[in-house]
Amino acid sequence: MKCVDDFRLRLGKHELVPIMVGGMGVDISAAELSLEAARLGGVGHISDAMVPTVSDRRFKTKYVKDKLQQYKFNVANSDKSVVQFNMDMLAEATTRHVSATMEAKRGPGLIFINCMEKLTMNAPKETLRVRLRAAMDAGIEGITLAAGLHLGSFALIEDHPRFRDVHLGIIVSSLRALQLFLKKSARTGRLPDYVVVEGPLAGGHLGFGMDWAQYDLATITNEIQAWMKAEQLDIPVIPAGGIFTGTDAVNFLEAGAAAVQVATRFTVAHECGLPEDVQQHYFTADEDDIEVNQISPTGYPMRMLKSSPAIGDGIRPNCEAYGYLLDAKGNCQYIEAYNREVALHPGAKRVKVMDKTCLCTHMRNFECWTCGHYTYRLKDTTRQNEDGSYQLLTAEHVFRDYQFSKDNKIALPELISSTA
Ligand SMILES: Cc1cc2nc3c(=O)[nH]c(=O)nc-3n(C[C@H](O)[C@H](O)[C@H](O)COP(=O)(O)O)c2cc1C
Repeated sequence: MKCVDDFRLRLGKHELVPIMVGGMGVDISAAELSLEAARLGGVGHISDAMVPTVSDRRFKTKYVKDKLQQYKFNVANSDKSVVQFNMDMLAEATTRHVSATMEAKRGPGLIFINCMEKLTMNAPKETLRVRLRAAMDAGIEGITLAAGLHLGSFALIEDHPRFRDVHLGIIVSSLRALQLFLKKSARTGRLPDYVVVEGPLAGGHLGFGMDWAQYDLATITNEIQAWMKAEQLDIPVIPAGGIFTGTDAVNFLEAGAAAVQVATRFTVAHECGLPEDVQQHYFTADEDDIEVNQISPTGYPMRMLKSSPAIGDGIRPNCEAYGYLLDAKGNCQYIEAYNREVALHPGAKRVKVMDKTCLCTHMRNFECWTCGHYTYRLKDTTRQNEDGSYQLLTAEHVFRDYQFSKDNKIALPELISSTA
């Protein structure tokens, strides 16, 4: 019987343990987590979602405060089109986040950045260009283009000196999405270096409609592999979503996958960015405490714990401070939903908004508990303390369990004596 360690992911000149820890915004896949994945010989991801906000927390910068100060005059205005990101600030924040992470890197693995293209930031193309180029300037080893895949992304960086040296990957949930991307970027003469195929059980936003349950990761992966073979395309395929044990991973590797991308099991690691009280909610969740809903203003379905404080909350939109979801015209679906409720409840101190959420505010405050389908199995991956809480894991423990476990087994962490 094989384990994940019997396989290797080849990317350029690198030979890696075929485990990618997926990007989790906003700073859930924190630098510490990505650094562990790289130290252990795999691939870790930081995230570029809300990077100025992340920089403020990580480096005590004041980007959010400065932006709010600049646009304070507009706070009560429902038209947010004047609220723009300063491109120098955006480049600086990205550079800080990436450089500090790269400087701390040890070991044979790689560090990539997950780029949430759906963060349109009131100027989709310009802000994306700045984020991608700043990450490349700061030495990132790879970029995974995620949610809202912008078909013209390669063109935004094709004149960058590192365009052919940095590993570029895309996340797709269907063969059709892959075909469209390849067609659109063919002109740059560069193929993606890897393709993450994300199925319907993944965490975060889903690349499916509300009929997600009809799809299955193995079928989509097979379809993509068969098409690539027929087209004589040799691009590593990396399935993601619901791969919970080393054996699940081996099944994909034996079927021709180059690696697997995993995330949910790392949400309860010390190195993960989630606060510990939130991690305990992940541990205690049962299957029916998890839902896929449509409250994300991106328009994509999103999986989360039903107990997320973000659900139903009617906070005033915070676009002057954040504004990451403003589209090219300065609109966000949450602003519309919020204004509708305010108009329906004149004089109310606080409205409830059930159909959308202020994603920026709630992701910033770790109040939107996005999670993978198998979050309800996390309690089986650790030990329970005497007070009923669950023992957090180290990223190393989870990584090595994926790497070496066989026979669908999950290794429990060492027993920590409560009297120690
Ligand atoms: C809490 C959480 C947040 C996530 N955020 C993002 C994100 O910001 N961008 C992205 O491309 N994928 C995101 N994902 C998806 C993961 O990167 C990964 O592809 C997927 O969850 C793998 O499936 P698994 O969680 O079942 O292992 C997120 C997943 C989780 C669990």
